[in-house]
Amino acid sequence: MPDNIVLIGFMGSGKTTVGKILAANLGWSFLDTDAMIEEDTGLSIKAIFAHYGEQYFRELEQAAVARAAASRRAVIATGGGAVLSGDNVRRLREGNKVVWLQVRLETALQRAGVKGDRPLLQGRRREEVAGLFKRREPYYAFADIYIDTDGKDAAAVAGEIKEAL
Ligand code: S3P
Repeated sequence: MPDNIVLIGFMGSGKTTVGKILAANLGWSFLDTDAMIEEDTGLSIKAIFAHYGEQYFRELEQAAVARAAASRRAVIATGGGAVLSGDNVRRLREGNKVVWLQVRLETALQRAGVKGDRPLLQGRRREEVAGLFKRREPYYAFADIYIDTDGKDAAAVAGEIKEAL
């Protein structure tokens, strides 16, 4: 088994929901870099973006990724943009299995839109989000395992990951 299982993918791909189920199935701990940042700062991701900007959020994310990657027997859900940093990618890969939860843009928007708390989606036109989605794709491709999540519930996706390990 790898040290940790790392879930990457676009907003709304199901990283947090699937990660919790997978961790419970394996008897491993569950870490979510966004939740770690919120706990550390006492602020929501939305508030951090609004008051301090994306650059500062990325610095906090870098620290959270380093901390998460140092654990063992954890399922780690990352924020959708964590893979933009080469340092993060290096840390997330080392000794771990990285799983890309693939999702169609429409599905991602439906899932992420329900909560309405993603600063990078709020107030954006559809074409802008589609552009972001396209630009992000290549950053996820380094994953060891690709799982298509469309039309599947989170438990089924967690089951597929377990099979693929
Ligand atoms: C982001 C994704 C979000 C969160 C932040 C930025 C991104 O996480 O980290 O809003 O850049 O794609 P989720 O992928 O869990 O929504």
